Amino acid sequence: MKLTILGGGGFRVPLVYGALLTDHAEGRVTEVVLHDLDDSRLYAVARVLAEQASTVADAPTVTATTDLDEALRGADFVFSAIRVGGLEGRANDERVALAEGVLGQETVGAGGIAYGLRTVPVAVDIARRVARLAPDAWVINFTNPAGLVTEAMSRHLGDRVIGICDSPVGLGRRIARVLGANPREAFIDYVGLNHLGWVRGLRVAGRDELPRLLADSDLLGSFEEGKLFGVDWLRSLGAIPNEYLHYYYFNRETVRAYQQAEKTRGAFLRDQQARFYEEMRRPDAAALTAWDRTRAEREATYMAENRETAGAGERDADDLSGGYEKVALALMRAIARDERTTLILNVRNQGAFSVLDTDAVIEVPCLVDANGAHPVAVAPLPDHATGLVCAVKGVEREVLAAAESGSRASAVKAFALHPLVDSVNVARRLVEGYTAVHPGLAYLG
Ligand code: G6P
Ligand code: MN
Repeated sequence: MKLTILGGGGFRVPLVYGALLTDHAEGRVTEVVLHDLDDSRLYAVARVLAEQASTVADAPTVTATTDLDEALRGADFVFSAIRVGGLEGRANDERVALAEGVLGQETVGAGGIAYGLRTVPVAVDIARRVARLAPDAWVINFTNPAGLVTEAMSRHLGDRVIGICDSPVGLGRRIARVLGANPREAFIDYVGLNHLGWVRGLRVAGRDELPRLLADSDLLGSFEEGKLFGVDWLRSLGAIPNEYLHYYYFNRETVRAYQQAEKTRGAFLRDQQARFYEEMRRPDAAALTAWDRTRAEREATYMAENRETAGAGERDADDLSGGYEKVALALMRAIARDERTTLILNVRNQGAFSVLDTDAVIEVPCLVDANGAHPVAVAPLPDHATGLVCAVKGVEREVLAAAESGSRASAVKAFALHPLVDSVNVARRLVEGYTAVHPGLAYLG
């Protein structure tokens, strides 16, 4: 089986390859093709993969190319994990937004819109090529903002594109852990959009264990989301929100913390990764050791400003290996080998979430088998959550309209309608600021 990884020179590719190396069963991936625009990044990552494979007998072969069509031909699975504009682009997304006093996070608020506006045209081009060159391939989209990008691609690939994120999985795992439940036996009742969802229940053998967690202050305050949101607020909600909702519920504090940070997340990662890729140019560099050190530092500092404003302290050791690669492998196995399983994924809701139209991509538990991912029908959200989901979906649709038409007015509308952008004038200035710094937004006339 052939797996093509777009963004193959990306820093998290060794996580995916490491997961593939643990799979020795019939029908596993035997061939990995890395595609990237940048040769030196491909070279760096290929060095890490070669060290990972050195002790594994049946390791998948790895080839690298900068030719997209060649990479796609004959692929059974395509992972799309690209970053249009690179980490410099991410840092600019943050800077422009924070200067206007609004959030610049890569997936939430103004920053997420700017990143989406640059990424959607590229993702659509990829989707069209996949439809032409590898029509039977399954596309697994990691590219952020993942829900929006998956919806853009689904207009060309239908249900053959599935978006993934490790945050709901991590959340479910943490809740199961504090409740003493086996995450494999638990059904996580979760719904929303990517980075905008809530766990409303956790069922083990048909019994909802979440009320037990909400009733116990010690348990509730003992894990990441409890520390981030605070026990009282979780009880008021009666649900456990995805960690990215911290940017909504504590917006003022997070914006201030990001404004005051020595470096924004994007700028920190830009500099950190530049050092790693530079090091990989040295012929004697220990590639895997350098990569792993960089990875550990990245994971330890994830959402550091949010945790600081909440007084949440360090991350739990158990949370440091995200599980990003495990979701991807589990999904691929379920499809390729008809190993039926339930995973929280980003798919067109097909009526499973009735406040949105059937083509709207949502994040929801899905039954996965050889025919793809089938969303499980879910109970409605409370009004406040439905309102947020609908508002943000409306923003996403405006981003898609802007990317399709090149209309600047649509881009302004996307920013202006976002619940975390507080004035149409701010939205106008954001479009000015972003088009000035991002060559990838030149299409907005
Ligand atoms: C989480 C999110 C991903 C994001 C990742 C890395 O896992 O779900 O969407 O890409 O964190 O975040 P970072 O700030 O390290 O790039
Ligand atoms: Mn994510």
